[in-house]
Amino acid sequence: MSFPEHRPRRLRRTPAVRRLARETHLVPSQLVLPMFVREGITEPSPIGSMPGIVQHSMDSLRRAVAEAAEQRIGGVMLFGVPEVRDAVGSGADDPNGILNRATEAVVAEVGDAVVVQTDLCLDEFTDHGHCGVLRDDGAVDNDATLERYTAMGLAQARAGSAMLGLSGMMDGQVGAVREALDAEGFTDTLILAYSAKYAGAFYGPFREAVDSQLKGDRRSYQLDPGNGREGVREALLDVEEGADVVMVKPALPYLDVLADVKASVDVPVWAYQVSGEYAMVEAAAAHGWIDRQGAIMESLLGIRRAGADAILTYWAVEAARWLRAEL
Ligand code: PBG
Repeated sequence: MSFPEHRPRRLRRTPAVRRLARETHLVPSQLVLPMFVREGITEPSPIGSMPGIVQHSMDSLRRAVAEAAEQRIGGVMLFGVPEVRDAVGSGADDPNGILNRATEAVVAEVGDAVVVQTDLCLDEFTDHGHCGVLRDDGAVDNDATLERYTAMGLAQARAGSAMLGLSGMMDGQVGAVREALDAEGFTDTLILAYSAKYAGAFYGPFREAVDSQLKGDRRSYQLDPGNGREGVREALLDVEEGADVVMVKPALPYLDVLADVKASVDVPVWAYQVSGEYAMVEAAAAHGWIDRQGAIMESLLGIRRAGADAILTYWAVEAARWLRAEL
C-alpha cells in the first residue's frame, strides 16, 4: 500500500466529478427578494448605501416583481415607505397605506407565480422608528404592540399577502397574529417568524432604504449577538405559537445559530442576508477587491450549507439568472 492511503482529492479532480459530488445546491426557488415601495414617487429612487437597489414607485414595483417572477425566484418580501408617520404607525393597518396598496397591486400583477410576502412591523410607519408603540416612559410596550400587529396582519391578509413576515421581535407576536388571522377566516395565510433576529450593525443600509426615524437602538427587543441558545429558544417558541417558517437574521455572522435552529425545529428554516451583508460585498467589489459574483454565490451557498431552506437576499434575481444560465 502506497502512501497516502486516503485520497479525498479524487472527488475534486474534474468539473464533472465535482458537480456530482457537491453536497449543497442552490436553486432560484430558494431565493426571496426584499423590495421597497415608497409612497408619493413616480420614478424609482436609488438607495446610496445599497448600490443597485431602489425604493420603487408603485409602477416600477409591479414591473420588477413581474421580472422576478420570470426568473422563477421563490418569493418577494415587500417593505413600505410611507409619506406620513405617527406614534402608533397608523399607515400600517390602513387599507390605503402604501404597503397594503402595493400588496394588492403586486398580487393583481403576478398572482401566486411568486409567494408575495409582507413585512409585518411598525418601524417603517412610526415617527419614532421603533418596531412597536411606546409607553409614556419611552419603552416599547409589548402587549399594546401586539394589538397593532394583529390589526396590521389582518390588513395585509385582506390585501392579499400570502405570507406575513413578523419581524418586530415582540413576545407572543406569532400566537397573537395567528389567532387573529384564524378568527377572520385567514387560515391559509402563512406566518414567517423572524425568530432569531439579532440587534446589531448590519441593518445600517436598510435604515436608509426605509428612511428610518430611529434614534437609539433595538436592543430591548432584538437578540444580543452573543446569544446562540436564546436564538434557538425563540425559534422553538415561535413554532409552538404557530409559525410556518422560522428565520435567522442576519445570515453570515450567525451561521452557527442557523445550524442549531435547523437541528431543533421541524419547520422550514430561512435566513435573511441583510442590507449590511449586501453593502459589504458591493463596496469591496466596486473597489475591485473581491470577485463580486464569486463572493455572492459563495455566501449564498454557505448559508444554504449551514441549514437555510430558503434565503432572503437582495441579489435574488441576479443570482437566479446566474443559476439558470448554469443549467
Ligand atoms: C423591521 C426590519 C428590519 C429589517 C428587516 N425588517 C430593520 C431592523 O430591524 O432594524 C432589516 C433588513 C436589512 O437590513 O436588510 N421592519
